[in-house]
Amino acid sequence: VFFWCACCLMVAWWVSASDEHCPELPPVNNSIFIAKEVEGQILGTYVCIKGYHLVGKKILFCNASKEWDNTTTECRLGHCPDPVLVNGEFSTSGPANVSDKITFKCNDHYILKGSNWSQCLEDHTWAPPFPICKSRDCDPAGNPAHGYFEGDNFTLGSTISYYCEDRYYLVGMQEQQCVDGEWSSALPVCKLIQEAPKPECEKALLAFQERKDLCEAIENFMQQLKESGMTMEELKYSLELKKAELKAKLL
Ligand SMILES: *[C@@H]1O[C@H](CO)[C@@H](O)[C@H](O)[C@H]1NC(C)=O
Ligand SMILES: *[C@@H]1O[C@H](CO)[C@@H](O)[C@H](O)[C@H]1NC(C)=O
Ligand SMILES: *[C@@H]1O[C@H](CO)[C@@H](O)[C@H](O)[C@H]1NC(C)=O
Ligand SMILES: *[C@@H]1O[C@H](CO)[C@@H](O)[C@H](O)[C@H]1NC(C)=O
Ligand SMILES: *[C@@H]1O[C@H](CO)[C@@H](O)[C@H](O)[C@H]1NC(C)=O
Ligand SMILES: *[C@@H]1O[C@H](CO)[C@@H](O)[C@H](O)[C@H]1NC(C)=O
Repeated sequence: VFFWCACCLMVAWWVSASDEHCPELPPVNNSIFIAKEVEGQILGTYVCIKGYHLVGKKILFCNASKEWDNTTTECRLGHCPDPVLVNGEFSTSGPANVSDKITFKCNDHYILKGSNWSQCLEDHTWAPPFPICKSRDCDPAGNPAHGYFEGDNFTLGSTISYYCEDRYYLVGMQEQQCVDGEWSSALPVCKLIQEAPKPECEKALLAFQERKDLCEAIENFMQQLKESGMTMEELKYSLELKKAELKAKLL
């Protein structure tokens, strides 16, 4: 009974622009229409009454040939639009009332990203915004420039390993696991190995060879390394390069 009484509430003004008028718009049930002049143009706004939400165009223009844009605006039951959650569910069904609170839950194998609740506000919107349900499986992994990964399973819990092409070394995590739809670390990068081993490395190695006692030699080596400011990463690849050089000499 309420709806029959509340129907057809419509207020319209048409404001004259120069000498002509914009035609009267067809009424939209359960709405209020407000027209005003903005920078010489007539602008019309539909506002749905309490308990209804707007579907279609909210703001219309009356253009230079005194016509409104073609519109299919409607005010539908429910103060806020019906909630949507693909691959999940929410706590209510049916039209929402102002200040209604709903909670969200994702189906098995999906993880909720965003807020697990939302509330219908006076202005016909939901806040916080609706979450999404994201698959716990990962998207196919990407390849870094000059590198590749091994592994063909991107499902939850799977692992993949990254490798670099010859003459490149990997910076970042080599092993990655699919955890709740995301790879466990950022994509590693492949960096070009510098042609010659760094002189700092050579110096440290010499310091190592100078000593007969292994402990002293290591201490000497570490000291030299510390002074050079070389990172472990740089040291590792300098040594690898040295190894490759020695191998090449033996063949
Ligand atoms: C508007 O409401 C009237 C009366 O309830 C109804 O007859 C009419 O079909 C409605 N119009 C639209 C577009 O829903
Ligand atoms: C005004 O809008 C009508 C309907 O959308 C359109 O047919 C007409 O070409 C428009 N005129 C101008 C001057 O934009
Ligand atoms: C508005 O568009 C609908 C289809 O979207 C069409 O049926 C109707 O005739 C159009 N009305 C005007 C005034 O152009
Ligand atoms: C909204 O309020 C009406 C009456 O007050 C009630 O019947 C309806 O179930 C409410 N809707 C929701 C989604 O709670
Ligand atoms: C919503 O998330 C909070 C923590 O962010 C949690 O404490 C609460 O139980 C969750 N509610 C539901 C219905 O899942
Ligand atoms: C991927 O791994 C999961 C478990 O980690 C396993 O259940 C599934 O069968 C694997 N799929 C393929 C195509 O190998």
